Amino acid sequence: MLTRRRFLAASALSGAAVLARFETQAQARFATPLPVPRLVDARGSDVAIPLVLAQGTHAYRAGQFVTALGYSAPVLGPAIRVARGQRLTMAVDNRTERPTTVHWHGLIIPSAVDGGPHNAISRGGVWGPILPVDQPEATAWFHPHPHGDTAPQVYSGAAGLLLIDDGSGEQLGLPRAYGIDDLPLILQDRWFDRSGAPVYEPSPMEIMAGFRGDTVIVNGVVSPIARVPAGVIRLRLLNAANARIFDLRFSDRRVFHVIASDGGYLSAPVAMRRLLIAPGERYEVLVDFSDGAEVVLETGPDGNRPMMGMMGAAPPLTDGGQVMKFAVDRNTAAAASMPKSLVPVSRLDAARVAARRQFLLNDMMMGGMMGGGGGMGSMMAINGRPFDMERIDVETRLGTIELWHIVSQSMAHPFHVHGTQFQILTLDGRRPPPHLQGWKDTVLVTREAQILVPLTQPASHGQPFMYHCHILEHEDAGMMGQFTCS
Ligand code: C2O
Ligand code: CU
Ligand code: CU
Repeated sequence: MLTRRRFLAASALSGAAVLARFETQAQARFATPLPVPRLVDARGSDVAIPLVLAQGTHAYRAGQFVTALGYSAPVLGPAIRVARGQRLTMAVDNRTERPTTVHWHGLIIPSAVDGGPHNAISRGGVWGPILPVDQPEATAWFHPHPHGDTAPQVYSGAAGLLLIDDGSGEQLGLPRAYGIDDLPLILQDRWFDRSGAPVYEPSPMEIMAGFRGDTVIVNGVVSPIARVPAGVIRLRLLNAANARIFDLRFSDRRVFHVIASDGGYLSAPVAMRRLLIAPGERYEVLVDFSDGAEVVLETGPDGNRPMMGMMGAAPPLTDGGQVMKFAVDRNTAAAASMPKSLVPVSRLDAARVAARRQFLLNDMMMGGMMGGGGGMGSMMAINGRPFDMERIDVETRLGTIELWHIVSQSMAHPFHVHGTQFQILTLDGRRPPPHLQGWKDTVLVTREAQILVPLTQPASHGQPFMYHCHILEHEDAGMMGQFTCS
């Protein structure tokens, strides 16, 4: 049914009907104020922070209220601010009909509390992990990670933010008035049906290419507008889409400065006009709005697809790639200025690696893998082996650094590792560009990448860490492996 509707939408790319649809959407564009996830300041607190995963009612498109999934919110979840050096106690309550887990993406914590597929919370169950947070200031996030059901649960709305605080941003004078000059932007895409409800029914081709919608949402709504003070604003960008890679730029092509990647600050701001952000990645950027001009944040098309002509290409965006608008309030000046330098990033020593490993990300039909009646889903694997909860793929030694060589077979894959922040040594054989020289937990591997992975957190056979592609359809279909650390 959905497939048919989408087939019609895709095949009628000319004509008055499409034009009319486009115009209706244009009228509502940039009318909804940007929602900002509720801030929960848990710094120094030893009280358990409740997270109730439940269905709620939410309007992705103005006025169209539909069912969504969220953590103590109708959709998405809170932004939890936590201090470096504290223990953060969580109280997760699964009030949905399906088993779930909550994974703390980007935290350097033991696998026993990491929320991977082995930490299942049954329907109606509760989970109370204590997270020892001890890592540099960064923007991390949390989302479900149940075996084989991550993509639908994230797509339904479950995702929240973790803001790790160590005082360095304050010392640097970075914008830090949450919701005013420090704005989280959770970027996702959806297919909506006529009622305004997101539809998730990936075809075999969409499992192979990743499920990408034709409409971008920011913090859970279509085409919002943010009013910002006239000055330097910090945007915490998170790509929480299942599969879409955003190619961000401003409509006036203004320069912005990347100050942080997944695991924390870069050593100095990096001036850019375009920024690719793949699923799972975060970047923090500073944008100067002191000229008072209105500007639209845009994305280019996502060209990622398996190697078979146009098959599996991402659908064009109905709003022409216009993500959201910024309007400047000239009466309020933002306090912050653009710093010259940030936090020095100490380079991991490639000469010290204890082991080298190779990971081939299999995304195509392979001889021997299609036997036993396996469908298209069984093509997704790493080193020829689809994910198996009962199999440990890699055993690592606690306290060492390893060099991982990741090779993508045909598409680009955002490769993510749990329980660590790594550094990119090479990307397609070259030194990575400056904004990719800081701490990362997810790297977009177009052809190949070499990363240096510090292993500082324990992971047992019963509760191993995961490494996987963050295109959630790939992850659920088997492009994931497990490692221990002891
Ligand atoms: Cu955000 Cu294992 O994932
Ligand atoms: Cu993760
Ligand atoms: Cu992938």
